[in-house]
Amino acid sequence: MFFSEKIISKLLKLPTPFYYYDVDIFEMTIKKVIEASKNINGKIHYALKANHQNRLLGIVAKSGLGADCVSGGEIQKALENGISAESIVFAGVGKTDAEIEYAIKNKVFCLNVESIEELMVIDSIAQKMNDKVSIALRINPNVDAYTHKFITTGLEENKFGINASDLKDALEKLSNLKNVELIGIHFHIGSQITDLSVFKNLCLKINEILRFLEERRIEVNHINVGGGLGINYMYPDEHLFPDFEGYFNVFEKFLERRPNQQLHFELGRALVAQCGALICKVIFHKTSGKKHFLILDSGMNHLIRPALYEAYHKMENISKYNELNVMLYDVCGPICETTDYFGKNVLLPETQRGDYIAVRSAGAYGEVMASNYNLRGYPSVYFSDEI
Ligand code: LLP
Repeated sequence: MFFSEKIISKLLKLPTPFYYYDVDIFEMTIKKVIEASKNINGKIHYALKANHQNRLLGIVAKSGLGADCVSGGEIQKALENGISAESIVFAGVGKTDAEIEYAIKNKVFCLNVESIEELMVIDSIAQKMNDKVSIALRINPNVDAYTHKFITTGLEENKFGINASDLKDALEKLSNLKNVELIGIHFHIGSQITDLSVFKNLCLKINEILRFLEERRIEVNHINVGGGLGINYMYPDEHLFPDFEGYFNVFEKFLERRPNQQLHFELGRALVAQCGALICKVIFHKTSGKKHFLILDSGMNHLIRPALYEAYHKMENISKYNELNVMLYDVCGPICETTDYFGKNVLLPETQRGDYIAVRSAGAYGEVMASNYNLRGYPSVYFSDEI
C-alpha cells in the first residue's frame, strides 16, 4: 500500500505543494528489475531524464546500475552521485561541442550518435583531444510504439536517430574516421509502451540490422534497446511494479543476439514513476452550472503531463479517506491556462477547501519538468524516511 495511515498523518502536516517519494518502493523496484534482468544478463542504465533527485541517484549508484544521460548536466549529476563513468551512456539528438568534450574527458562508456553530421563532429573533437571515443549508432528503426504521438521517437517522421536507409552511408563515413570506434547500435522507439508486442517488433527490426552488419563483416558487441516500458497509471496500487519479467522475456525470445553481444536497457519511467506523488492542497471549490471545480495550489507548473500529453494520473483526497459521499470534479491548477488541469470528471469523496489531494504515479517526468511559470515557485520535496 502506497499511503499508510501513519504516512498520511505525517503528510497532512506538511506545507503544500510538494513531491513525495517512497524510498522503499524505489529500492524494491530497482531490486526487482535487477533480479528480472539476470537471465538475460542485461545492463540497465537508469534514465536520469525521468528523475534526477540525488537521493534516488544514490540508490541507483549503490545498486550498480548505470546511467542514461542526455546532457552534460545529467552526466555531471550521475558522476556526482557515484555512478561510474564506464556505465554511462550519452544519448541526445543535440549534443553541443562542450558536452561532447565533457563526455570524452570524463571517459563515459559510449556516445549514442544520432546523425552523420554528429558522427563527424565527435570524430573531429576526439581528434583535437587526441583521444578515441566509443560510439553506438542510434538507428531509427521505423517501428510504431503505439503510444502518445508526443512521446513516439522511432518513426521516420521523428527527429531521432539515423534513418535505417542511411545506415550504409553512415558506415562508409565511419570506416574513414580514426578517432571513433563503433562498439554498438542503439534504439529507442518511445515511452509509456504498454503493449509488449511493440518490443517484439523492435527485436525483429534489430535482427535485420544485425544481419545487415554481419554481411558487411561489421562486429558490434553492444545492443542498446533503449527504454520505454510503460506503467499502470490507472491502478497504481495494484501495479506498483511493472512486469519486468515479461519485458525482458520478449528480448530473450525474439532478439537474435550473438554470444559476444551485451544487451543494454535505458529504463526511466518504469523504475521511478510509481514511487512518487505530487501532494497539493485545494485552495477553492467553485461551481459553474452543474460543474464542480477544485482549484489546487499546484498545476501544470509542477506536473505538466496532463496538460502536455492529456495524460491520466490517478488522484486521491488523502484528507478524506473515510468520506463515503462522492462527487465528480474537474481538478485544476492555479495557472492562467485553459489546459491547466490534472483531470476532468474525477470521482472524489466530497472535497473542501484545505483538503490534500495526492496525484499518483508522478515520480517520472514530474518534478524534472516543473517550471516557475506564473512565478509560483518550485514544489518542495520529501522522502518517506525523512518525514
Ligand atoms: N532512452 C532514450 C534515448 C530516451 O529518449 C528516453 C526517454 C529513455 C531512454 C527513457 O524512456 P522511459 O523508459 O522513461 O520511457 N516526458 C514524457 C516522456 C519523455 C521520454 C523521453 N525519452 C512523459 O512524461 O511521458
